[in-house]
Amino acid sequence: MKAIKMTMSPGTPSSLTPPTQQQTKPAPSTAPIRTIPGGYGWPVLGPISDRLDYFWFQGPETFFRKRIEKHKSTVFRTNVPPTFPFFSGVNPNVVAVLDCKSFSHLFDMEIVEKKNVLVGDFMPSVKFTGDLRVCAYLDTSEPQHSKVKKFSMDILKRSSTIWVSTLTSNLDTMWDTLESKLSVSDSASYLVPIQKLIFSFFTRCLIGADLSASPEIAKSGYVMADLWLALQLLPTVKIGVLQPLEEIFLHSYAYPFALVSSGYKKLAKFVEEQGKEAVERGVTEFGLSREETIHNLVFILGFNAYGGASIFLPTLLAKIGTDKTGIQEKLREEVRAKTAGSTLSFDSVKDMELVQSFVYETLRLNPPVPLQYGRARKDFLLSSHDSVYEIKKGELLCGFQTLVMRDPNVFDDPEEFVSDRFTKQKGRELLSYLYWSNGPQTGSPSESNKQCPAKDYVTLTACLFVAYLFRRYDSITCNSSGAITAVVKAK
Ligand code: HEM
Repeated sequence: MKAIKMTMSPGTPSSLTPPTQQQTKPAPSTAPIRTIPGGYGWPVLGPISDRLDYFWFQGPETFFRKRIEKHKSTVFRTNVPPTFPFFSGVNPNVVAVLDCKSFSHLFDMEIVEKKNVLVGDFMPSVKFTGDLRVCAYLDTSEPQHSKVKKFSMDILKRSSTIWVSTLTSNLDTMWDTLESKLSVSDSASYLVPIQKLIFSFFTRCLIGADLSASPEIAKSGYVMADLWLALQLLPTVKIGVLQPLEEIFLHSYAYPFALVSSGYKKLAKFVEEQGKEAVERGVTEFGLSREETIHNLVFILGFNAYGGASIFLPTLLAKIGTDKTGIQEKLREEVRAKTAGSTLSFDSVKDMELVQSFVYETLRLNPPVPLQYGRARKDFLLSSHDSVYEIKKGELLCGFQTLVMRDPNVFDDPEEFVSDRFTKQKGRELLSYLYWSNGPQTGSPSESNKQCPAKDYVTLTACLFVAYLFRRYDSITCNSSGAITAVVKAK
């Protein structure tokens, strides 16, 4: 790790017991105050030009990279979509924060507010979430945030006893299906099977519901969730379909909830009926109304858990299956050495240093939720590695993790996938700069911050996913279109 100064304490490996250290703040800097470079351009024209660069001519990564180069600064003013013509109430002006030090201001709840900024100044209609603002849109100053966050942490804690067995039985089903397809075909796409696995697994663990109770949700619940997610996120996400069609049809207006209302209502009804116990606990133990509990549960299941993992797990599998560096052999050796004669458990994967590092490195280079926002609660000084900038109350900070996690001041060879980057003492210290969960991997999710409550569950589940794979197979091969082309069963 490069010698930079931040107040974050060195990391320890993740554990299911929440660490006790405080969420940390960026160190005050003595660097010179600099005017924030960049700007917003002419009204209407500036935002449109930036929007076209973002979605069409450059794409998000190049969009931010080019502006860092142009302004010679990781902090600058720019516009981000959505914008004109039918997003007139949305202010596209942001201050981009694109290095580890400036980005970490987004974790300091004393200086940034997180009300309604999950995907920027634009907020999908509350119709998508049962006419209420669910946890991810609540600021820490709102009493409901604390109640729902505690509820979400309680759900995770309770489910930890069935977590591993539920995951492995769903993995059995997924790999059996893929193998039977491979026996009659040259390749077997894993994209749908993995979504089915994720949906079924989280439904059981988070809601306590069994999909077999509803043939319709078992068959199409994950598709209902996909459509519901897509409609909320379309205005802010580059899809990669033929331009200008994408700009005209997908990024110019918000799609109405009515298109997915039937699926959403079915999901909500399923949660209410089959997740009775979880719903009751939300009401009696956490002081939430029935409606708040149900719609937060749908959001946690469908958006936070299913949405996040549907991006992350296929990326992880592709990284393993397309690797040409010999990493499969090393992962397999570690998995087998640490689980010889025993079943998989949280404890067994906590001992797998390389598997954990591989998972962390995948998250570093492919953060599943790449953008984070926060609105200044007050005027304050924001530090990057080399400068200090004046931020005014009400300004919106926008962090793009894909670049932040490649900060050359923190990570050696930042663009390279280094499987063992997070091993040994030096690697563990780097965990303080791994931000995929909207907080450092060494941080503690709590009701007073906005870090993902499943921070450790997600990484340990990914480790279990890898460990399961190398207990079952000696090797697997994937193509670049999301399909398995060969598996060699464990001898
Ligand atoms: C791979 C899977 C996951 C990823 C990538 C992920 C990522 C994130 C991120 C980045 C945030 C912060 C969003 C923001 O404010 O910018 C977040 C928040 C949240 N996540 Fe996760 N998450 C995942 C799984 C889960 C699971 C399994 C749960 C189940 C409890 C969960 C529950 C939540 C909740 C309730 C919040 C809101 C926290 C708050 O408002 O304080 N997430 N997640």
